[in-house]
Amino acid sequence: MKKTVSDIDVSGARCLVRVDFNVPFEPGTTTISDDSRIRAALPTINYLRERGARVILATHVGRPKGIDDSLRVAPMAARLSELIGAPVTVAPDSIGEETEKLAAALGPGGVLFLENTRFHPEEEKNDPDHSAALARLADIYVDDAFGSAHRAHASTEGVAHILPAVAGFLLDKEIRMLGGILESPRRPLATLMGGAKVGDKMAVMERLIENSDMLIVGGGMAAAFLEARGMRTGKSLLEADGPQMAGRIESAAKARGIQLLIPTDVIVSTELSADAEASAVSSDAIPDDAMLLDIGPETRDTYTRALRLCQTVLWNGPMGVFEYEQFAGGTRVVGENLAQYARAGATVVVGGGSTAEAVDALGYADAMTHVSTGGGAALEFLEGRTLPGIAALNDAD
Ligand code: 3PG
Repeated sequence: MKKTVSDIDVSGARCLVRVDFNVPFEPGTTTISDDSRIRAALPTINYLRERGARVILATHVGRPKGIDDSLRVAPMAARLSELIGAPVTVAPDSIGEETEKLAAALGPGGVLFLENTRFHPEEEKNDPDHSAALARLADIYVDDAFGSAHRAHASTEGVAHILPAVAGFLLDKEIRMLGGILESPRRPLATLMGGAKVGDKMAVMERLIENSDMLIVGGGMAAAFLEARGMRTGKSLLEADGPQMAGRIESAAKARGIQLLIPTDVIVSTELSADAEASAVSSDAIPDDAMLLDIGPETRDTYTRALRLCQTVLWNGPMGVFEYEQFAGGTRVVGENLAQYARAGATVVVGGGSTAEAVDALGYADAMTHVSTGGGAALEFLEGRTLPGIAALNDAD
């Protein structure tokens, strides 16, 4: 267990709060298309401000090579200011004399937003001098950036070795919710996996199979599982070693005696476009010129009935290409039912990245027990790996 902001006295303190406001923009603009990561950090920011702490926020944005005007923090600072109903000053840099002056001048409850931490290459190198420069801005380090906890960078790891370092409420919740799946889930526990590639989820499936009671597979990766069972999947996207990996998962599930569900019918099309024509076919009758783009109606029914029996569900990866209406049905039906099960008392945890986007776009995010703000970080955490951003924080007494 790690110390959190509520374990220490923050009143009046200057707190360097690492958030992950690496949010998506509308294509080609700096208009925020999904502000969930900003909203998720509000409990910590509000808590600190209410206690008269001086809040100094730090985030990376994108993967710049040096200064990049399209990746400045101004849009996130403006959105935050709207959400908290208070001014947010944007610093010209993440470190340096001018920024130190602004940090020192902050009044109780004041908020300063540092410029994109990755404008300095030393950030990603976890350079000790750079960490020290960040540490000079504050008395306490608060990490609320679960989405970046798998990165050992100066603002996510290095600085935590210099200042008293505690978790914010979001990071703490992520650790409790995702850790709960690994350590003490209410049973039965179903792992529902989707997304395009088996390779991306191989390690996490291998880890989760150890403590799940059921593994359910959808999305593009289902093609690899069908191929592993000797079915043909036409033009479906398939990694060269996809069927082999899927076969390994299937053997592991068998060895542990857990149920593995794969689609019995699928939605296919000869092309992937907004006006592509979709049709439902049995999984063993995918035409040679077609590709698998969603789970079919019979499969949706089987999956939702199986999930209804579970006390805990971890969902990672959409069931189809939900960005196109004709391939969104599987993700919508599963999402709708999981939202209903969560309202009825089941624990439903949604992995971050594209699953979080899908759940948000379909309007079910608020009904779920927890929607993780981490993409890569959530996967690495669920693989059972130690995340450097968490490891560096002070242990609870
Ligand atoms: C994310 O969006 O997954 C996090 O903000 C981490 O970003 P990164 O992969 O560029 O480190």
